[in-house]
Amino acid sequence: MTDKAYVIDELISAKAIAARIEALAKDIETSFAGTEKLVVVGLLRGSFIFIADLVRDLDLAVEVDFMEVSSYGDAMESSREVRIIKDLRGQIEGRDVLVVEDIVDTGHTLNNVITLLRSREPARLKSIALLDKPSRREVDFKSDWIGFEIPDEFVVGYGIDFAQRNRNLPFIGAVRFTE
Ligand code: IMP
Ligand code: MG
Repeated sequence: MTDKAYVIDELISAKAIAARIEALAKDIETSFAGTEKLVVVGLLRGSFIFIADLVRDLDLAVEVDFMEVSSYGDAMESSREVRIIKDLRGQIEGRDVLVVEDIVDTGHTLNNVITLLRSREPARLKSIALLDKPSRREVDFKSDWIGFEIPDEFVVGYGIDFAQRNRNLPFIGAVRFTE
């Protein structure tokens, strides 16, 4: 797949992403008003640029933590489970938590992560995803905040990869194969 030639067509510009994150941050500030400190949890690796920009727009006391999970493994689609590759460093019991994801696709990953983190009994637990592909959903899951809804296209850039490439593009683009 990766040896096939492709071009990347810009779908969402860097400027549009920045404007959207600024608006989302204001909404998150309102939602978590009065928090002592918000634990912002980035799901590695795709969210690393998004979380970096988001926390700089948040006028709240924040702590940043990361988690890496895999929802795929060799499991059959219907029995996808979350496998923790790297767990949080900090405790979240009784704390306010915001999980930051790059894309909600089938919904398994974020749904599983939220279920897992809820079992640790945080005070408030919410999620934000930069991109959402609602047409691909396999489980009934809705993120509290979404940056942009996109069609069923494979996207890269702004932290998101195709076979570990293109994470460093400043915009979101669609991969289009040319052969
Ligand atoms: P889900 O469990 O199907 O919702 O999986 C979401 C994960 O699949 C995201 O965190 C991405 O890592 C990956 N993913 C889904 N769509 C894309 C895409 O268009 N480009 C790159 N990765 C994607
Ligand atoms: Mg991912």
